[in-house]
Amino acid sequence: MSEFVAYFNGDWIPKSECKVHISDRGFALGDAIYEAERTFDGKIFDLDGHMDRLFRSLKYVRIDPSVTYEQMKSLCIESVDRNMHMWKDGHDFALRQYVTRGSGSSVSETVPPVVYVGVDYVGFRRFSKMYDEGGHVIFARSRSYSPNSLDPKIKHLSRMNFALAELEAADVDPDSWPVLLDQDGNISEGVTFNFWIIKDGVIITPRDKNILQGVTRKTVIDLAKKLDIPVIEEDIQLYDAYTCDEAFITATSHSVLPISKLDGRPISEDIPGPVVRQLISGWSEMVGVDIVDQARRNA
Ligand SMILES: Cc1ncc(COP(=O)(O)O)c(C=O)c1O
Repeated sequence: MSEFVAYFNGDWIPKSECKVHISDRGFALGDAIYEAERTFDGKIFDLDGHMDRLFRSLKYVRIDPSVTYEQMKSLCIESVDRNMHMWKDGHDFALRQYVTRGSGSSVSETVPPVVYVGVDYVGFRRFSKMYDEGGHVIFARSRSYSPNSLDPKIKHLSRMNFALAELEAADVDPDSWPVLLDQDGNISEGVTFNFWIIKDGVIITPRDKNILQGVTRKTVIDLAKKLDIPVIEEDIQLYDAYTCDEAFITATSHSVLPISKLDGRPISEDIPGPVVRQLISGWSEMVGVDIVDQARRNA
């Protein structure tokens, strides 16, 4: 079969046949949780970290996924194994799991959830040239959700503020990466990534009060400690960002990606800067794949 196969409500079927009902609450209301991993050379990176976050999100929003933690973990591994007929050497897989609350007429009606576990290719094209050139961040007008309304620690699919932020950023720079401020005007995170600056050799990233607790973020904090680079988590204002020495973003797909401009303002001549370069090579060593070379080859 020249198509990906996916787990969908108990069966393995062609991905193109995975369809939700119009009354599914995930579709109708964004009442759904998801998780995303990737492989490096075919091995899923930190599956436990992703499963922990998936099951924390499900527990918080009280969706019973109908599969256990261990079963979900096995389904993820099986989704890679079952799609090896689609494997391309030098490429890698991006995994996704979606769990919706199903088609109940109210939030408390007990109906079966919709559970999807599938893979695709990592979308290198979106970011491959940015390891050399750096990405452009635009600070959007739309704010991130406050933890008082919808806690950003949940990896959910109620993301209209992110869609608006993407539109606002694209109005300014079509190739940009939108970052949202929190309700107090501090920098929170990007629409699918965490945000970092470096000042005087210290890596600074927002505290985890107003952001998704990125699996890549946690790994970068550990990696920086191993490399003897100090890391602090604190509020970052636009002033701190505009006057930083280096900036980067992190997410599962691209790991560590240098940023060259913030709201159109160049950060420095040297992209990637010395600290980001150390992180990228440390990451490549850790996963056994040269992530810059891989992205360039799959541009
Ligand atoms: C809002 C948001 N922040 C941060 C991240 C980065 O998280 P991770 O490093 O686990 O991919 C994501 C990933 O999808 C995200 O959606």
